[in-house]
Amino acid sequence: MQKDFIELTINDIPVWVAPETTLLDAARAIGVSIPTLCHDPQLTVTGACRLCVVEVENKDGTTRLEPSCSYPAQAGMVVRTNTREVRNARRVIIELILANHPHACQTCVRNGRCQLQSLCREYSIDEYKYEGARREVPKDTSTVAITRHPDYCINCGKCVKVCREVQEVNALEFVNRGFSIVTMPALNLPLSETVCILCGQCLLKCPVAAIRDRSYVREVEAVLDEKKRLLTVQVAPAIRASIGELFGLPPGSLLTRKIPTALRRLGFQHIFDTDFGADMAVMEEGHELLERLNAGGPFPLITSCSPGWVKFMEHFYPEFIPNMSSTKSPQQIVGTLTKTFFAERRGVAPSEVYQVAIMPCSAKKWEIGLPQNSRNGLPDVDAVLTTREFADLLRLHEIDLPSLPDSDFDLLLGESSGAGVMFGAPGGMMEAALRTVCSIIEPGSDRLEFPVLRGYGGIKEGSLIVGDTELKLCAVHGLGNARKVLDAIKSGEKTVHFLEVMACPGGCVGGGGQPLPTTEDIRKRRIEAIYAEDRSKPVRLSHRNPAVQEIYSSFLGQPLSEKAHELLHTGYSAREPHGI
Ligand code: SF4
Ligand code: SF4
Ligand code: SF4
Ligand code: FES
Repeated sequence: MQKDFIELTINDIPVWVAPETTLLDAARAIGVSIPTLCHDPQLTVTGACRLCVVEVENKDGTTRLEPSCSYPAQAGMVVRTNTREVRNARRVIIELILANHPHACQTCVRNGRCQLQSLCREYSIDEYKYEGARREVPKDTSTVAITRHPDYCINCGKCVKVCREVQEVNALEFVNRGFSIVTMPALNLPLSETVCILCGQCLLKCPVAAIRDRSYVREVEAVLDEKKRLLTVQVAPAIRASIGELFGLPPGSLLTRKIPTALRRLGFQHIFDTDFGADMAVMEEGHELLERLNAGGPFPLITSCSPGWVKFMEHFYPEFIPNMSSTKSPQQIVGTLTKTFFAERRGVAPSEVYQVAIMPCSAKKWEIGLPQNSRNGLPDVDAVLTTREFADLLRLHEIDLPSLPDSDFDLLLGESSGAGVMFGAPGGMMEAALRTVCSIIEPGSDRLEFPVLRGYGGIKEGSLIVGDTELKLCAVHGLGNARKVLDAIKSGEKTVHFLEVMACPGGCVGGGGQPLPTTEDIRKRRIEAIYAEDRSKPVRLSHRNPAVQEIYSSFLGQPLSEKAHELLHTGYSAREPHGI
């Protein structure tokens, strides 16, 4: 036992914890799992739902109920978490939530992965006890990525808090009071007219179906059935480390070589790998960094592969536009090369090619609709499916992913290096680019791993000596962390030469399109799987990828050539409303 720890008993089991530990955490320390709805270890505590009540003994032997997620442990306390009174109190709380909730489980997208539904099962609630008036608030389907369904909202507040405290976007707030209380975008605007960056972190936190994917499963199903166009698909790095969870495998299970088999069974004719696009992004962005090192700036060069970050920058920090790398994201690079290089090689018109991107990220649905990501009125990528939607599509087609035989991505636009897969981990994009940049500045010195960029820290920073240059590096994930770094750069407090920003906590492995649940522990296990995938690759540097060498020699010329600029680079502009 550590000095200064206090002792209490929970369910007659002695437990020693640091002062200020909540009863919830003290109980978890001894394997007692109290149910919660509004509590999340990443967010501030508000005690909104009271589902976590436990019984605390008073000095006179009587008892009272206290919410364990906010109540601090005290020396000598006697706590019981599972008495009849506690269970009945929790039942009443659940029954009251149900009184103002649609009776729609059969047709609900969260059926089978809904915390409210699980609680009903755990507490043997098999009827709607209270039939009350229903709050009716119109749904918001204004964005291309996520939809809001306030009728399903149970007012836990987690969406408001993750948007405010983690992402620091503040797109949502509580409005009204009492029975009419509901979460809404500021000024009750459609979400598409706000500063929302479509990161989907609110969806990951929502315990019910009040925030949903705008699903493209039916659209892709129809295109697969029609077979009118040449069907191509690309798969983002993070998918291979997370999709297994949706088929009952533990987090961090790698299914890299099952995915191409599944996609062929679905009817896709060409299976590309977004990792190849990541290798191409390394080539272009790495050379942008080299150009800026030669020219003396502007610094920092800021990465641009996370569309949620790009949208955030355009709303909140447009003064950093000159710092942004102009290289397109790996998704858009593969999309562009599919509709140009690949179509040309196949001798088909771009309009005959259909491209689906399977992504861990809800903001990727927004990215494909940007005008700069279309040519001659045709989008480079036609549809994005999140990891969850991909699993839905597989189940619809009776494909059990883990039991499939292995196969490979196609060689054309599908061959990738370990650097490409690193884009799935936070700090990985920068690490991938530095591998190539270092080997250009110091030929023959293959530097493969950069410890300062490894791990889960929200702000990772350090220096790297390469040649006779000291490069100051910083990699952040989560936009609250990005704000801290950008403000420090603006005030002159911090000097950074190369800055990676990933919008979502944990980077792509924690994207808004990833499996539910996505907790910190699960993100870390997915990151370890990405590192393992990189180490298993025979080629770990993007410029050594034979497919990359081939496309430059036969189609693009050099990195940053005129053709590369035309096809693989993009631009940014300040976006309304201007965020504060
Ligand atoms: S949110 Fe959950 S409880 Fe509500 S209808 Fe959907 S599955 Fe059922
Ligand atoms: S998608 Fe992201 S930015 Fe938009 S409301 Fe949700 S958490 Fe906030
Ligand atoms: S939308 Fe979801 S996360 Fe937000 S308050 Fe309602 S139930 Fe909670
Ligand atoms: S989980 Fe403790 S009050 Fe909601």
